[in-house]
Amino acid sequence: MIRASLIASALATPILLTGVTALQAEEQAEMIAPTGDVEAGETAFNRQCVACHVVVNDEGEKLAGRNGRTGPNLFPVPYRTAAQDEDFRYGKGMELAGAQGVTWTEAHFTAYVQDPTGFLRDVTEDGSARSKMSFKVRKPEDAADIFAYLASLNPALEETAEK
Ligand code: HEC
Repeated sequence: MIRASLIASALATPILLTGVTALQAEEQAEMIAPTGDVEAGETAFNRQCVACHVVVNDEGEKLAGRNGRTGPNLFPVPYRTAAQDEDFRYGKGMELAGAQGVTWTEAHFTAYVQDPTGFLRDVTEDGSARSKMSFKVRKPEDAADIFAYLASLNPALEETAEK
């Protein structure tokens, strides 16, 4: 037993040392399958997010939302780096997260939408960061379902999901 765990920790060490690689592997694993329910996510998105957000693809087609422009365009949010809508003025904390390469994986996304300011403080390690998003998703399932719905709007991701 002891020997087996020593070997395991010896094997694990190089992976832990190259934290970026481990993180990327984790993100890639998360890219394959959003855990939420797409239909429930559509309903939740239409109730909770459209007041402030639209989803408009690169061709200018509106895939979701109405006229909400208080927040950035969320296309193609699953797996996009934070703060990439060039027409939107992000808060400093979000700009910093983007500059640090924070990506909207399911884990990051669900944490952010449930506590935007808390998430930005955690990822940027800046205790004074504040999110400009003054809305919190209350149920974790809603957050995961909305993530799955947003992923379903991006044809490029469906191919990834099917593999
Ligand atoms: C009251 C308006 C409002 C509502 C409602 C709202 N948001 Fe936001 N959202 C914002 C604003 C403003 C920002 C920009 C935050 C910043 O710059 O700090 C933002 C940013 C985001 C981002 C980061 C996007 C990027 O470009 O990196 C995500 C993801 C997001 N919102 C998801 C959601 C989801 C999902 C919902 C619904 C559950 C939602 N928001 C509801 C206003 C809102």
